[in-house]
Amino acid sequence: MSVIHIGSDHAGFQLKSLLAGELAKLGYKVEDHGANSTESCDYPLIARDLCKAVAADGNLGILICGTGIGMSIAANRNPAIRAALCANELSARMCRRHNNANVLCLGARIIGEELALAIMTAFLESKFEGGRHQRRLDEIGQIKS
Ligand code: RB5
Repeated sequence: MSVIHIGSDHAGFQLKSLLAGELAKLGYKVEDHGANSTESCDYPLIARDLCKAVAADGNLGILICGTGIGMSIAANRNPAIRAALCANELSARMCRRHNNANVLCLGARIIGEELALAIMTAFLESKFEGGRHQRRLDEIGQIKS
């Protein structure tokens, strides 16, 4: 059974619960990294823990905060993570096909539930195309600050 890691802060908690339920219905094993309520918490800590798990087992992850911006900034600090903040289905498809994104970031205060579900489905159904896109990812991996 495929595992999907999912995590949010307080702002993303409600959307995370909805998406986790849908993932379970679709037959995925859902690894929930918190938050566990709408009580205020710090998104970097959730992003850090989820990304560690994604880096370790190679499965995909979904991170949700109010805008998705904080989660994507935090997630991309892990060199094994290619996190993509998506607010439409085309971006969700292309970040898998061209960027081999392994973490999808969503903004719960930006998009509605139906769109979030459609974005998640597009992300999960799309596959990396490799070839010239792998070369470009290798180039990203070589960038030093
Ligand atoms: C929390 O208020 C909010 O700052 C957080 O959910 C996120 O949007 C940060 O980028």
